[in-house]
Amino acid sequence: MSDARSAAATTVPALEAKDLHKAYRLRQETIEILSGLDLVVARGESVAVVGASGSGKTTMINMLGLLDRPDTGSVRIAGEDALAASGSRRAQMRNQRLGFVFQFYHLVNELSALDNVLLPARIGAPWFGWSARKAEMTARARALLARVGLAGRESHRPQQLSGGERQRVAIARALVLEPDVVFCDEPTGNLDPRTARGVQDLLLEVAPAGRAMLLVTHDEAFARRCDRVLRLADGRLRPSAADAASSAGTFASGGAA
Ligand SMILES: Nc1ncnc2c1ncn2[C@@H]1O[C@H](COP(=O)(O)OP(=O)(O)O)[C@@H](O)[C@H]1O
Ligand SMILES: [Mg+2]
Repeated sequence: MSDARSAAATTVPALEAKDLHKAYRLRQETIEILSGLDLVVARGESVAVVGASGSGKTTMINMLGLLDRPDTGSVRIAGEDALAASGSRRAQMRNQRLGFVFQFYHLVNELSALDNVLLPARIGAPWFGWSARKAEMTARARALLARVGLAGRESHRPQQLSGGERQRVAIARALVLEPDVVFCDEPTGNLDPRTARGVQDLLLEVAPAGRAMLLVTHDEAFARRCDRVLRLADGRLRPSAADAASSAGTFASGGAA
């Protein structure tokens, strides 16, 4: 990477959303879910979003992750305007710049753990060629499975793995193409507390490494382990009370010094 590019890469946010609006229309009724949502996540930063069930957290992830389109507003991924881009460019951005970890893993049951991790590489083949990079990608996928504690389980199908292990496969899959942003929607919501703790440790350890993580969780303790905690309410994000208090404390002590 040139000096100019690396300098730009450190200052351009990994993820930037401005004034997002999204309403669902059901027959006569229109329900506004996002009402001018703004968000900036820096490279290397982990941000947690908490909020009541039904407050729109998954809707927000769908918009930011380019899985669905807001009614108005803008989404930039590593500086690039995703909503102005063509559909195929957006698909490419989703494949190569974004990673996803969902509550219910969303693994493909017919594929081995290794092939699940390789799926984004196969989907991305039209853009970067599969045959040329198959060996490299396979080595990377194996290394990631080892990194998440699943060495020796490469050929297991999802049904042959526990919930925690399935989520570890999903984490490896989310990271295989080295995305700029990793989105996690209630990644430990389906796991018992002990297993959840292991998955949390892993996510906080492996996902940030120079990229951004946006985590949606009900678990306030998990949220507080991120760099920042925001609350989604009334269609917008605000610093959560606990996080605002701790930033105010930092500011006050900084001011007094
Ligand atoms: N495709 C959809 N069509 C209509 N309403 C939806 C759709 N998706 C979500 N909703 C509604 O939008 C609200 C927010 O949903 P969601 O984003 O899933 O919230 P959360 O993830 O915070 O629980 C809910 O009231 C939900 O019923
Ligand atoms: Mg949800």
